[in-house]
Amino acid sequence: MTTIIRSPFLFASALVIVAVVAAAAPSAQPAARKQAIAHRGASGYAPEHTPAAYTLAMAQKADFVEPDLAVSKDNVLFCMHDDTLERTTNVAEVFPDRVSAGYETRQPGKHWLANDFTMAEIKRLDAGKWMKPEFAGQHLQTFQEAIDLVRGKAGLYPELKSPELYKSRGVDQVKLFVDIIRKNGLETPESLKTTPVIIQSFDESAIRRVAVDLPTVPRVFLTSKDEDVTEARITELAKFATGIAPEKFVIARHPEMVARAHAAGLTVTSWTFRADDKEMAFPNVKAEMAHFLYDLGIDALFTNNPDQFPRR
Ligand code: G3P
Ligand code: CA
Repeated sequence: MTTIIRSPFLFASALVIVAVVAAAAPSAQPAARKQAIAHRGASGYAPEHTPAAYTLAMAQKADFVEPDLAVSKDNVLFCMHDDTLERTTNVAEVFPDRVSAGYETRQPGKHWLANDFTMAEIKRLDAGKWMKPEFAGQHLQTFQEAIDLVRGKAGLYPELKSPELYKSRGVDQVKLFVDIIRKNGLETPESLKTTPVIIQSFDESAIRRVAVDLPTVPRVFLTSKDEDVTEARITELAKFATGIAPEKFVIARHPEMVARAHAAGLTVTSWTFRADDKEMAFPNVKAEMAHFLYDLGIDALFTNNPDQFPRR
């Protein structure tokens, strides 16, 4: 028999009781904290991959700082997004005669390949003034310097960029990475508690290798392809990855993939959320991030604007 509460006072009291009981009851699956990953540091405000960008990301309370990783001529892992130096440094001014041959087949124009320069040479380059004169004097950081800067204050979310390019030049980028993680003890359970590390790559074979060599470290497969979010593909990815990170347009086209990935035991992260995104279909980046996190249910995202990350 259905009981109808006719008194407005009793009805309101019943609502309060239901709300209190619901709040007190342990959730079957407590919502994990949503995570903000500072994309190339707080790169909406400071030049990407410089100490200024990483320091600001931590001041803006990013959960993770993202170092994209390149390899210098003398086999030092350092933090830079592109394979080449000319977009974010003054390499063309400092080394006008050191243009690299061959890279124009990938991208038209003159290029200065990172792997053709020693770390000492890369340290001579200004990596700040291209963005704003006030950042003149900022330099690119080695991965070791980034570890030392971030460790204990935020997590690290390194991306293995272009392992196949380095392989074609006789450089094993994945091995360099595994070695530096081990040398710093970043894969140990004690370290992971205070400095979480999550590895990401578009390169499936790199993720598979890291799964074997650093099994304690979570690893996320990046994709911008719709075919990577099918049921069959997600089942396959769950055999070696701990998460999937589709570009936001893929998730918008296939919002059901979030539940599918979670059911397979994968976390879901997306990219890239930028306040200056001209294509954005939301009033602002905070609203866009809130939609993906709280309406679509993703776990984490990469943003150039960690200060706009919506916490609830
Ligand atoms: O790594 C996630 C996201 O950063 C991928 O985009 O090109 O900025 O590395 P990209
Ligand atoms: Ca990246």
